[in-house]
Amino acid sequence: MSATSSVRRTFSGAQPTGQLHLGNYLGAIRNWVHEQSQYESYFCVVDLHALTIPQDPRELHAATLRTAALYIASGIDPDRATVFVQSHVGAHAESTWLLNCLTPMNWLERMIQYKEKAVKLGEDVNIGLFDYPVLMASDILLYQPHVVPVGEDQKQHLELARDIARRFNDRFGETFRLPEPLIRKEGARVMSLQDGTTKMSKSDPSDLSRINLLDTADDIRNKIKRAKTDAVLGLTFDPARPECYNLLTIYQILSGESPEAIESQFAGVGFGKFKPLLTEVVVEFLKPIQTRYREVTAEPGHLEAILRDGAIRAGQVAGETLGNVRQKLGLLAPL
Ligand code: TYM
Repeated sequence: MSATSSVRRTFSGAQPTGQLHLGNYLGAIRNWVHEQSQYESYFCVVDLHALTIPQDPRELHAATLRTAALYIASGIDPDRATVFVQSHVGAHAESTWLLNCLTPMNWLERMIQYKEKAVKLGEDVNIGLFDYPVLMASDILLYQPHVVPVGEDQKQHLELARDIARRFNDRFGETFRLPEPLIRKEGARVMSLQDGTTKMSKSDPSDLSRINLLDTADDIRNKIKRAKTDAVLGLTFDPARPECYNLLTIYQILSGESPEAIESQFAGVGFGKFKPLLTEVVVEFLKPIQTRYREVTAEPGHLEAILRDGAIRAGQVAGETLGNVRQKLGLLAPL
């Protein structure tokens, strides 16, 4: 393993598709913010992953910058953590080819997200979508991280990354660290506002299903007002009431109050009373993130400088691992 492997590292990323939403924040980004003080951290905007479904080039370009700016606005400190764009570090794509040649097709055929997306896309399924988890394994393994903070939906992809790493190590000698998923229970699976049984997602056709980090107070009010609920009086953390459970969980994490305190506060209350309070908590919570976002994007060249610097730092670490992999596989070093 790399000479610096005694440093505890973390790696994670999000796709620049659409807008980052409360699910991304609660399931992943707020944990990254926490982790950056304990780990040498790498946070990537995974633009190559975004290409696995059709993208408008101009929107992809804008969303890549917006996503990086939202990392910083959410509290990622570029002096502590390395923030970069995946396609700026060529090692990710090269490593994917090398790991492809080691990964059985049937490991990928089992991937739940692939199967779900393939059903939606029909004939538009491309090889990239199938190969998506191997690119994700490359992202991770190149940085030799100890932990990978993600939401619940990425668990299977992380298991695959571990399986690929194990297979490589078995065949070619100890090379990759096996990373541990870091999935915090609270917020690991934030659900759609329109259906408490499906997760909040950037790709949901209805914008009413999610609260985007950059939504205005009016948007948020409207979305919460129209959020699906049930007819039971008294709000409880009851998994059998998925919409109620989801809204209370969002309230709990953002307000910092305990579930017990929340249940007793809302014991005799219906959603009509609760929704305006939830709206206020969400609006207040997002305000500083939105202010910081405007600051980060207002300063010309600031974000670009962070990403340039990030790509250099990330490229060094990834390049070291890739060099080792190439050598282990027997590829002739460039002459
Ligand atoms: P992406 O872009 O879908 O989501 C980014 C992060 O947000 C989490 N997340 C959620 N958490 C809770 N509730 C939700 N409703 C919710 N929706 C999304 C995701 O679990 C993720 O942690 N394949 C990844 C991106 C990726 C990656 C990586 C992640 C590429 N390479 C390497 C970690 C390490 C993805 O599509 O995330």
